[in-house]
Amino acid sequence: MVSEKDLGARAEESSSGAGALCRHSRRHSGYRILLQVISCVAVCLPSAGAAFGEASPAGLRQTRKDVSVRIVKGLRITPVEGESWLRHLGIPFIASNMGRVANWAPSPPGLSVRPSSGEGPDGEFLLSGADLYRLNCQSCHKAGGSGVPPTINSLIGPVQATSAVMIRAQMKKRGIDLDAKTLNQLVSQAQASLRTRLQNGGEKMPPFRHLAREEMEALLAYLEELVGVPGAKRKQIWLSEPTARVGEHLVRGTCHICHESSGPGLAVAVGAQEAIPSLASLSRDRSPSEIIRKVREGLARPTAMMTSSRGEMPIFSDLTSEEIGAAYAYLVRYPPRP
Ligand code: HEC
Ligand code: HEC
Repeated sequence: MVSEKDLGARAEESSSGAGALCRHSRRHSGYRILLQVISCVAVCLPSAGAAFGEASPAGLRQTRKDVSVRIVKGLRITPVEGESWLRHLGIPFIASNMGRVANWAPSPPGLSVRPSSGEGPDGEFLLSGADLYRLNCQSCHKAGGSGVPPTINSLIGPVQATSAVMIRAQMKKRGIDLDAKTLNQLVSQAQASLRTRLQNGGEKMPPFRHLAREEMEALLAYLEELVGVPGAKRKQIWLSEPTARVGEHLVRGTCHICHESSGPGLAVAVGAQEAIPSLASLSRDRSPSEIIRKVREGLARPTAMMTSSRGEMPIFSDLTSEEIGAAYAYLVRYPPRP
């Protein structure tokens, strides 16, 4: 067993420098990098003292006058269980884009300046709706939400439809003037169907029942910003959450798409020797730093014959070492069930 402290230290070892709160994305446009620099100066520096020094959630709240940080009450963290999403769908890994597209495109510039998640002293992360999106949605829908049609639909249209302002503007363009009642009806229908989709999933989309009410609100606020709903930037919500919960988001939202909870693992292709190891075996056989390296940079297995030096698994360079360390901590503390 590895203690959380130990984990933190090991995660730190393999991370690439820079302060935890400030380390977010790379390889983005100059504008975005500028945004990040500004965000690091404006957001990370003043809050870093309180977030890592005094350490009380109340401290977090005080130092962040610009945004409200909510503490999610009554969180229920549960172990991941059952088959992977690919097994559930009966689609072989090599024949699917699911879980692969997190790195295919940078997120559009101009989104709200945001702190990336980073571990605090009591294992608390500061998490934005954008972070929830990155952990739960990005590996299928890409950073910008466009997905990979025809299988993975874009979420942009369905989210825009939840905004009265955007519907009215679109209808105007087509020469239709909607009355207030019809408009309200359309909007509440779209909002209800978005929530139902997240609750129940779709034909090929997994359900996200584990999201708590506050998490759902933070995610929906970010989706609005992502698709350009006017004023959405001001409505962003930040949450303070325990490490294991952050790990749960990442494992359920991303890793469990391909990796089974337990058992011998899923074959990469029909009849292939090589298997995608189970989540239970990952936390048993691999150290946090190996897992972090595998996920962020790729790593070939010594036994693999025909893979590239990165292996077959896609890389997820938008995930931080702390977040992957959190996934490890979650798997150790809440062992996966068959
Ligand atoms: C494992 C891949 C996967 C993940 C992860 C995923 N989705 Fe999807 N999503 C899909 C697929 C596939 C569709 C197309 C419809 C279907 O087959 O269910 C879809 C469709 C959608 C749609 C469009 C529905 C419509 O009416 O056309 C929305 C909105 C959506 N997803 C939101 C999300 C959000 C928000 C998240 C993160 C909480 C998420 N999805 C995570 C695979 C995924
Ligand atoms: C799109 C499918 C997919 C997703 C999503 C995915 N993996 Fe993998 N993973 C694979 C495949 C395929 C392999 C085996 C081939 C290889 O090593 O590249 C693998 C192998 C690994 C290995 C190496 C195991 C070993 O013993 O050699 C680790 C560690 C790992 N995954 C961790 C993760 C974590 C953590 C996540 C979630 C952040 C994740 N994976 C998400 C497909 C995926």
